[in-house]
Amino acid sequence: MMRISISGRLTLMFALLMIGTVATFALFLRSSLLSSLEGMMHNELVIRNSLMAPYIEYQGSVENWSHVEQKLATLSSNERDKVSYLILSKDQQYRVGSLPVAALNYDQLPEGFSTIPNVDDPCPLYMLVQTLKPLGDRPEVKFIVALNSRPYYSTLAEFTSSLIFSSVAGLSFVILLSYFISRYGLRPARHLSEQAHGLAPGEPSQRLETNTLPSELYSLAVAFNGALERQEIAWKQLESFNADVAHELRTPLTNLIGQTQLALSRQRIAPELEELLESNLEELERMTSIVNDMLFLSHAMAGQSATELSEVSLREEALKTYDYIEPSLLDKSLSLDIVGDVRARVDKRLFHRALANLLENGARYAPTGSAVRVTLSHNGYLTQIAVSNVGDAIEERHLERLFERFYRVDAARNGSHMHHGLGLAIVNAVALMHGGKAFARSEAGINTFGFTLRIAPAGHESQQAEALADGSQLAQSVSGQGIA
Ligand SMILES: Nc1ncnc2c1ncn2[C@@H]1O[C@H](COP(=O)(O)OP(=O)(O)OP(=O)(O)O)[C@@H](O)[C@H]1O
Ligand SMILES: [Mg+2]
Repeated sequence: MMRISISGRLTLMFALLMIGTVATFALFLRSSLLSSLEGMMHNELVIRNSLMAPYIEYQGSVENWSHVEQKLATLSSNERDKVSYLILSKDQQYRVGSLPVAALNYDQLPEGFSTIPNVDDPCPLYMLVQTLKPLGDRPEVKFIVALNSRPYYSTLAEFTSSLIFSSVAGLSFVILLSYFISRYGLRPARHLSEQAHGLAPGEPSQRLETNTLPSELYSLAVAFNGALERQEIAWKQLESFNADVAHELRTPLTNLIGQTQLALSRQRIAPELEELLESNLEELERMTSIVNDMLFLSHAMAGQSATELSEVSLREEALKTYDYIEPSLLDKSLSLDIVGDVRARVDKRLFHRALANLLENGARYAPTGSAVRVTLSHNGYLTQIAVSNVGDAIEERHLERLFERFYRVDAARNGSHMHHGLGLAIVNAVALMHGGKAFARSEAGINTFGFTLRIAPAGHESQQAEALADGSQLAQSVSGQGIA
């Protein structure tokens, strides 16, 4: 597809505007010159008419008429082709002179100024016709002064051609100039695109230089830089994520290798080998669970949404999750209470997984003998599931990042070998798969973690499906953190 450059467009628009303006102006000039030339011709006719008409008017006989003829012949020869005099009458004796025009009809000849075409000249004749009343023997006659417009028309033609020449020359110059000016004016845009072309892959910290840009391009460049910045963050997350995955898998692999090498260092009896295999199996299971979690998260990242939705009482589902998590709670003599109930369409399997992660965390971080509370509530189309427990305040900088994969407040503490920091990332993914998001609060000694689900009111299930199908929102929020 052919692309027209902005300078090209601007020049074209300028050119059309200029041509329009100059043409209008030139036409106006030409017509005002023509009307002033016509004024001059009329003046000339009036002067000549006023010199002769009174004289002719007082000639009332055929005898005197020869004087008239003579006078007019002299005048005509003095003015050569410029002015012609003519007297028309119904009586042949009173006719004087002739004109280089087709026959003039006495009766239809208009009084005053008129223009008639010349026979062998494109320039017309300008005439002033005056009817002179009968006197004595003389009948009524029409006295005509005719002016050849050729000299005036050639002035007009000369003026027109010099006007056309100067307009074309001026226009070409201005159009050329406007092309260069627009090119000059668009230099920052070219500079910007050169900069963008120059952005090298693998250097995510590069930005476009915005200081020297004009305001129109400034906001574009700032937006572009914003996109680059988000790319950089995503790139860094990806990089650290790779490092995290490698790191998390290295420990169980090292354990496996170490134990196996130790076992092989001498001969082992069957029970010893059995114990080794059991321990190895445990490590392998842990690795499988990390890999499964990673796979689950990557599906959520790719915009997958919950599909197996069914309407359930969240309280009943929470009780089922409790059954599963009960041993961890009992270990620390923790009590669980569930406040409220909401009926919502959820993927039960995903809901259990998210809630179990939250309850496991609660059980791990709540002080022995305290209570873990699940609060179920809804607000408009949003259902909220919150799990709170007593605990040390969590700093804001951590709260913002806890939903990132592998992020832990203190990775060295709390059995990091067993816990990889994927639980809350999964909660966030489940929330996103239901069109909601995860949140974390730490207030007045209570830490609350939870997530929201978007539910459609009864009969509007398709809306929920639409909300869930919005993969862009999903992918966007997984990389961020959902803090309500
Ligand atoms: N209820 C809570 N009280 C205090 N801190 C919490 C709580 N829940 C989570 N955290 C903090 O958030 C971090 C991330 O939690 P997350 O569930 O993602 O990972 P994890 O529990 O460490 O590991 P995993 O869930 O993969 O076994 C935890 O390491 C902990 O520092
Ligand atoms: Mg956890």
